[in-house]
Amino acid sequence: MRLEQFILAWLDSMALSILSGFLIALSISQCVSSSDSHEWIAPTASDVRSPCPGLNTLANHGYLHRSGMNITITDMLDAAVAGFNVGPDSIIQAAKFGLLAGDAPTTLNLDTLQLHNLIEHDASISRNDFALGDNLHFNETVFSTLANANPGVDFYNGTSAGQVMQARLADSLARNVNVTNTRKEFALRMRESALYLSIFNDTRTGVTPKNFVQIFFREERLPIAEGWTRPETTITAETMVPVERIIEITAMWTATQQCEPLVIGPTITL
Ligand code: HEM
Ligand SMILES: *[C@@H]1O[C@H](CO)[C@@H](O)[C@H](O)[C@H]1NC(C)=O
Ligand SMILES: *[C@@H]1O[C@H](CO)[C@@H](O)[C@H](O)[C@H]1NC(C)=O
Ligand SMILES: *[C@@H]1O[C@H](CO)[C@@H](O)[C@H](O)[C@H]1NC(C)=O
Ligand SMILES: *[C@@H]1O[C@H](CO)[C@@H](O)[C@H](O)[C@H]1NC(C)=O
Ligand SMILES: *[C@@H]1O[C@H](CO)[C@@H](O)[C@H](O)[C@H]1NC(C)=O
Repeated sequence: MRLEQFILAWLDSMALSILSGFLIALSISQCVSSSDSHEWIAPTASDVRSPCPGLNTLANHGYLHRSGMNITITDMLDAAVAGFNVGPDSIIQAAKFGLLAGDAPTTLNLDTLQLHNLIEHDASISRNDFALGDNLHFNETVFSTLANANPGVDFYNGTSAGQVMQARLADSLARNVNVTNTRKEFALRMRESALYLSIFNDTRTGVTPKNFVQIFFREERLPIAEGWTRPETTITAETMVPVERIIEITAMWTATQQCEPLVIGPTITL
């Protein structure tokens, strides 16, 4: 072997071993981070959270910055896929509207999302109406309607979700003189119910265990220890059509106020 050939071969093998060392280090660090960084950790006193159990859960598991601050639209869309396998199309309008809640041009802090009547609405399933008290934090009394729904079985479905929405709206109409109840609020509420039913649908049984849903709302935690696994197929606006139809029929919703035609995308007007 000539000297130059030897040096070239030596450089090659050095490069290879440096490269493979780097790749091993990279894969180890990815391994460590993928098992460590998505643990559920309760928010600290300086972390902020929203009225949305979905975004809060993603932050509590580190799919969004655990601080809950400076979150971009892309952060939210990526986190929804990584944590829940919820595709962008079903939450993109909410994500874009969310930026209007605060002053920053391209990011939001989760707590700003409590801004009433932007996305935050009355007749929620786990928070109070704005005019009745705390519209940001989980409230067990409000949640009891959902917690106690579908008696006799251990799962929720489109029928029970529609009944819960109807009962929650009746409560708001009875107690809140300033209730807002237009097609916009109904569309948001129906989507939110379809999301929890879809994400926590148990692939082993084909239904949505009450236990999974209750842990999600009460603890803002993924019920992995209880047997939940991330859905294998992506949840989209399309996949939620069947369950939303059942919810809509069951909820027997009627508007008590009108909104102007609300254009939220090139093909969607509410
Ligand atoms: C990642 C997927 C998401 C899931 C699974 C999810 C799930 C939910 C659910 C189940 C509720 C109903 C809470 C209740 O009625 O008590 C809700 C409410 C809410 N979500 Fe989300 N959401 C997601 C994404 C988003 C995004 C991207 C935004 C906007 C930036 C958003 C903003 C809100 C707000 C402001 C509420 C409060 C509405 C209210 O009850 O007054 N969510 N979400
Ligand atoms: C969020 O952004 C603001 C403004 O750039 C910055 O002052 C703050 O430290 C950031 N907070 C976090 C938790 O990243
Ligand atoms: C309802 O809204 C009106 C007008 O904004 C306000 O003056 C009143 O205090 C509100 N009532 C309640 C119970 O929040
Ligand atoms: C929870 O909601 C109920 C019903 O609206 C209300 O009476 C109660 O004060 C709320 N609790 C807290 C801690 O806000
Ligand atoms: C939901 O569950 C209840 C209780 O088992 C059942 O009566 C109802 O038909 C179910 N709804 C759907 C759409 O399967
Ligand atoms: C849950 O999954 C089963 C199939 O495993 C499907 O038939 C059913 O429609 C799903 N329900 C919801 C609410 O997504």
